Amino acid sequence: MKKLLDLLSEEMGQAFEAAGYDKALGKVGVSNRPDLCEFQCNGAMAGAKQYHKAPIMIANEVAAKLEGSKVFEEAAAVAPGFLNLKLKKEFLRELLEVVAKEPKFGLEAPEKPKKIVIDYGGANVAKPLHVGHLRSAVIGGSVKRINRYVGHEVIGDAHLGDWGLQMGLVIVGLKERYPDWVYFDESYEGEYPEEAPFTISELEKIYPASSARSKTDAEYKAKAMEATYKYQQGVRGYWALGMKIREVSIKDLRKNYDALNTQFELWNGESTIKDLIPEMVQYMKDGGYAYISDGALVVDVKEETDTKEMPPCMILKSDGASLYNTTDLATILDRVRNFNPDQIIYLTDKRQDLYFQQVFRCARKTKLVEPQVDLKWIGFGTVNGLDGKPFKTRDGGVMRLEQLIKDTQDEMYRKIREGREMSEDEARKVANQVALAALIYGDLSNQASKDYIFDMEKFTSFEGDTGPYVLYTIVRIKSILAKFAEQGGDVSATKLNIVQSDAEKALVMQLLQFNSMMEGAATELAPHRVCGYVYELANDFNRFYHETKIITEEDETKKAGWIALLSLTKNVMLDCISVLGFEAPEKM
Ligand code: ARG
Repeated sequence: MKKLLDLLSEEMGQAFEAAGYDKALGKVGVSNRPDLCEFQCNGAMAGAKQYHKAPIMIANEVAAKLEGSKVFEEAAAVAPGFLNLKLKKEFLRELLEVVAKEPKFGLEAPEKPKKIVIDYGGANVAKPLHVGHLRSAVIGGSVKRINRYVGHEVIGDAHLGDWGLQMGLVIVGLKERYPDWVYFDESYEGEYPEEAPFTISELEKIYPASSARSKTDAEYKAKAMEATYKYQQGVRGYWALGMKIREVSIKDLRKNYDALNTQFELWNGESTIKDLIPEMVQYMKDGGYAYISDGALVVDVKEETDTKEMPPCMILKSDGASLYNTTDLATILDRVRNFNPDQIIYLTDKRQDLYFQQVFRCARKTKLVEPQVDLKWIGFGTVNGLDGKPFKTRDGGVMRLEQLIKDTQDEMYRKIREGREMSEDEARKVANQVALAALIYGDLSNQASKDYIFDMEKFTSFEGDTGPYVLYTIVRIKSILAKFAEQGGDVSATKLNIVQSDAEKALVMQLLQFNSMMEGAATELAPHRVCGYVYELANDFNRFYHETKIITEEDETKKAGWIALLSLTKNVMLDCISVLGFEAPEKM
């Protein structure tokens, strides 16, 4: 179905045309004075110059042409030349009936579906996930689902950090403890054991210990760098060990990501494109893009119009080791070859801004991607504590994501048990579901680029702009529908009422704007728009619900019409939360 604003603009455009004006002037927007009208058109103001006429005269002429309109119940010309608009109830009902029957509630499939690769999660192997990784997973996952919902093909890649010094640090840490492992015997030619010789908790201890030691012990650091280099060069034992570290980490990461309802189609990492690096380096040299500067291989990415400093993009260090840049560029090459995407989206902390500018410029300059491929970076802000500083544990340590999830679950459990008749098991289950909503919604309701404060009290509240409030509203609708079904009513009926009260009208108009909201959220890569919408929708529903006695209504047709409206509201809300990444329980 066409978008509501487009339908209104069409009708308005015809009126402008009928009155002898350009129909493009008939653009209708949502009212910025909801106390006066529902929608408005400022075309008469815009047309005044063009037609050398007072705007109010134009507005009056256009308003006259709208008498008897099937769309506008009221089109009032007001000084100095606005057209204040209210919609006809029958028109709304007809549209809503179409929307109720369409699987995506009026959202049309894109003319040309895009193929999108999204790079998010960004976990580093052998290191636990911390609160910063929450954002990458949650925003990335939602951007993926929104775009998929809208009709694009989206491939999510975890792009694990498994290339840098942390690999060497873990490897030398293991070597110190277990010097006799075959992995370290360079003359060994046999197969390496199938079973990993360490557990994730061991790795998570080794990494920080090794990292701390490398900061004071230069010789140790040199060993770690050498191990990194050997691993990157694919020296058999080092590579095999690296792959085991990766494997064990992935198993553990999956658990964490499952708890966040985050799934990846690809578990590739920086190391995945190892074999493409020599080819890419050669290509950049042959093309005259890369040159040696202070021993390192670099590509200039400065442009004349730059006002800020733009350092060259380093491809190889002077010791021949490759870097974060190198793997990112080779990954672009890999993605182009494997998927030929129209768009690649990256999610990282916003401090990587300059870095991604360098990488994108380098990829374009060296023609690793065709000009029409859209490279997009979403930089997200920091999660802060109540003190406004980066979120920490009580004793000032880094907050592990696992801990944060658990704390939220416990808090939710406490709230759910308070004054509710629920078995312990059920309360746990519901609490976990609602906790996830609290976390995800708390994050996504902020524009990604902004920092936000992780406020446990607020995020887990059943009131206000929160995940639990949205779920609570859905559960409320579910329970009304269940009651109606118990009384023998048919909840699948879709015949809607002619809108009566203002509250009902507001709810209906909100539902009719789902399609344009979702399309906008997809093109702008903006999950916060879905949050904003579902929150407004919940408010509109609750207002309607408080004013309307539904279950006790005696007029059966009217009651059935309201039930149809409720079903539709619930289904739209369910699709919204599903693209955000959480689900609603049956009760809470
Ligand atoms: N592992 C990186 C980090 O922890 C994030 C990776 C983001 N993706 C990328 N293609 N660079 O910061």
